[in-house]
Amino acid sequence: MNRSTCPDDTPILAARNLVKRYPRGREGFRSRPAAGIEAVSGVSFELARGETLGLVGESGCGKTTLARMLLKLLPADEGRILYRGVDLVPLSETEMRPLRRKIQIVFQDPYGSLNPRLTIGQTLRDGLHLAGVTGRGALRQRIAAVLERVGLPASAADRYPHEFSGGQRQRIGIARALSVEPEILVCDEPVSALDVSIQAQILNLLADLRESLGLSCLFISHDLNVVGYFCRRIAVMVHGRIVEEAPAEALFDAPLHPYTRQLLAAAADPLREVADAASLVGTQAAPSASPDACIAYSACPEAASACRAWAGDLTDAGGGHYVRCLRS
Ligand SMILES: Nc1ncnc2c1ncn2[C@@H]1O[C@H](COP(=O)(O)OP(=O)(O)O)[C@@H](O)[C@H]1O
Ligand SMILES: [Mg+2]
Repeated sequence: MNRSTCPDDTPILAARNLVKRYPRGREGFRSRPAAGIEAVSGVSFELARGETLGLVGESGCGKTTLARMLLKLLPADEGRILYRGVDLVPLSETEMRPLRRKIQIVFQDPYGSLNPRLTIGQTLRDGLHLAGVTGRGALRQRIAAVLERVGLPASAADRYPHEFSGGQRQRIGIARALSVEPEILVCDEPVSALDVSIQAQILNLLADLRESLGLSCLFISHDLNVVGYFCRRIAVMVHGRIVEEAPAEALFDAPLHPYTRQLLAAAADPLREVADAASLVGTQAAPSASPDACIAYSACPEAASACRAWAGDLTDAGGGHYVRCLRS
């Protein structure tokens, strides 16, 4: 869609009731889909231009599945993905090609996400080719510029991934995403695999790039402190659903969902990382007492018996604050 035909208040990216089901187990070829896991159960959100939306939730709640669906790396089973108002879900690979570069992703694992057999330059060149950049000189220049942008020397182009540290590899992952000049950056736990001492450097780099390039970001993390640092608006996900969404200050100062309050208490306790084995809801999807129960039922310290038969929607609490809870 032409920019001029898209009204200014159209979100640059929106999800409408996205659903993803996996057959049970990761191999799953013998299983019946009916017995599968619903990893994402009707997620909707809107991302305005230049905005960063944080998505926080424990390991296994469906964050990566949602990210991969948004990039069309995984097909959605239901729902719509609106880029500037255009639904990407029904588009073919050919129709997607000109749009692919608009939405880029930074992956969690800086070790697994780079091809060890390719030099950094070759990796970046592949992406640029797909984006239609050709010509040796132009490619070299663009690669040198983007490496410099993420704080690496141009000579990094001639080296292989194993020659770099985790933090440097994540810089390369960011360079790969930025090389095609995206409008939207999906960051899927971009610092979770890094040493704590390196995390702040990468977050600062991302914040700087977001600012200077005017990027719109979906920033995913299991760590509420990281999301609070990086995002003005935050959505909380439990078992494939968003249970609360609010401006960051409102979420921290006046959380409405009991699960969010638990997350906040855990995040405020330095001895208890939210990703710990003693997680709040367990790591597997769909453990509700019954399909009719509130999605957070099994994890909720304030659940009432009525919550066992309540599967309501997000409601508007005012001030851009939304909550999915019978009791609030
Ligand atoms: N390829 C797959 N096949 C089957 N189940 C999967 C697959 N990928 C993820 N899952 C399951 O889907 C749920 C959500 O996983 P994921 O999206 O990776 O969560 P998160 O990123 O929040 O940790 C988990 O229960 C996980 O085990
Ligand atoms: Mg993940």
